[in-house]
Amino acid sequence: MKPGGFQQWLKDTMGLDASTIGPTIVERAVQRRMAESGRADLSQYWSLLRGSALEQQELIEAVVVPETWFFRDAQAFQALARHYDPSWAAARPNERLRLLSLPCSTGEEPYTMVMALQEAGFPRERMDVEAIDISERALHKARQGRYGSNSFRGRELDYRERHFEATDEGWQLPNSIRSRVNFTQGNVLDIGFLPGESLYDAIFCRNLLIYFDAQTQLRTVEVLRRLLRPQGLLFVGPSEASLLLSLNFVSAQFPMAFAFRKAAAQPAGVVDTPAPRSVVAPLPTGRVASPARPVATRSAPVRAPAPASAVVAPVDESLLDQAQRLADNGRLSEALAACQSHQRAHGPSSRMLYLIGLIDSASGREREAEQHFRKALYLEPCHEEALMHLALLLETRGDAAGGRVLRSRAERCRGDAAQGRSR
Ligand SMILES: C[S@@+](CC[C@H](N)C(=O)[O-])C[C@H]1O[C@@H](n2cnc3c(N)ncnc32)[C@H](O)[C@@H]1O
Repeated sequence: MKPGGFQQWLKDTMGLDASTIGPTIVERAVQRRMAESGRADLSQYWSLLRGSALEQQELIEAVVVPETWFFRDAQAFQALARHYDPSWAAARPNERLRLLSLPCSTGEEPYTMVMALQEAGFPRERMDVEAIDISERALHKARQGRYGSNSFRGRELDYRERHFEATDEGWQLPNSIRSRVNFTQGNVLDIGFLPGESLYDAIFCRNLLIYFDAQTQLRTVEVLRRLLRPQGLLFVGPSEASLLLSLNFVSAQFPMAFAFRKAAAQPAGVVDTPAPRSVVAPLPTGRVASPARPVATRSAPVRAPAPASAVVAPVDESLLDQAQRLADNGRLSEALAACQSHQRAHGPSSRMLYLIGLIDSASGREREAEQHFRKALYLEPCHEEALMHLALLLETRGDAAGGRVLRSRAERCRGDAAQGRSR
């Protein structure tokens, strides 16, 4: 049995495209499971795997990427809470708000949905959150509702004081929040996944599609389409947004929230790629916290050096933070202006160029977005989010080969970064 056989098994079973996390990670996981299960070689391990549901789950557990944290890409939760506000509940006294977090990993995402809605005044007893993941291990942790520091990233952590209790084992969520979320194990690729289910008002399917190849992405998006109410909102990760636009979804016009509706549900007169405009009023302070975007995902800890000819200018983080906040609040032209004044004062920086790329993307300017992601990568060749955004831009345009090149570059960067950390 060759390692490629295991990769194919993982792809067929859970959709994982090994090239997205690096074939060596899969190889190492197989080697580890082979040793732990006491099998002498790959053929023996292959026989075990084929015949044992338990071992299949173990291998899946060994390759999943459970990376998640509270208020990750916080604008999505702000958009959810603004869209399904207390007046929505008041106008439908007999309805409950049905939400799905798929995949939910260790629970930070579905619990954030509850916290965000509750803080915006939505009656907690009127919301039901279904949370599904393929990883039993992640779900076990999710059900406990106890978290360490890695689950809290960014600078604005006020919500932690408001909702969690500090214990010796970590930060504990109270039962009042935990009881709103129902955790279930499930594989989105299973035939008949959630059959006959009532539809959902909002689905969060963030940071899953990036691990799938184009065909599996398509299959998954069709499952999500089936599960979403006609007027419901589908939230994806920043790197997954352009894929949705190519699959008959339209932007729900919540800047930087990466929220979509089914195309048919679009209100009359709204165009697919709207001119930048503020559709979301800023939240009163003290409501949904909007942590700064975590450095860990914005830039790999070990960066490849910028090309010698690149202008590496000082970066005024506060001006860029301001630009980010403006963009988060839908004030895209002001955000762009802040980026431009940053550029005039300090020259280009990868963060600024990436941010302009996101603003372009949110405004439907795909060509300009591409240019800005490319410029960001010129300055910071291992800017992972720029790499993934650009890969998806190319793929949705039909340039699968171009997308593959960028994905393997991201993979190499991740490998370098991991090596750097272990040194
Ligand atoms: C990076 S986490 C994303 C968590 C969360 N949505 C977020 O954005 O923070 C990816 C999760 O996808 C889950 N997963 C991978 N393949 C899956 C599948 N076929 N069906 C359901 N969950 C899957 C993994 O177990 C992992 O917990």
